[in-house]
Amino acid sequence: MAELVRLSITMEQDLHEQLEEILQLHGYENRSEFIRDMIRTRLVEREWERDEEVVGTITMIYDHCKRDLAQKLTSYQHEEHDLILATTHVHLDHDMCAEVIIARGRASTIQRMADRIRQVRGVLHTQLSMSTIGGSVPR
Ligand code: NI
Repeated sequence: MAELVRLSITMEQDLHEQLEEILQLHGYENRSEFIRDMIRTRLVEREWERDEEVVGTITMIYDHCKRDLAQKLTSYQHEEHDLILATTHVHLDHDMCAEVIIARGRASTIQRMADRIRQVRGVLHTQLSMSTIGGSVPR
């Protein structure tokens, strides 16, 4: 394990109360763990801002009965096969499908792919989750 550094922080009482509430709500064992987690989150955000190589998952919900929609989404994924690591399809009910794409590449290309899927007519919901290949986050 890397060498540890001890630091003390000051903040307004109101903010501290909010912090304690968040720790309890999300099951953090201590403040250090929470702050480490916040820093990692910020580092990953910075990777996306700097358009680095990242991992992102795109979740889309759509009705496969809608004309040409499933075919359109599949064709589009074939166009982006260099970016896509895996796709999982789940049948939610008689009509609705959930599909999750795991992509690896430049942040802007994954963002563009999510935006393009979002704009396909008939797609009910699209959500991009931004993550990392671990580049800038200390292990
Ligand atoms: Ni389906």
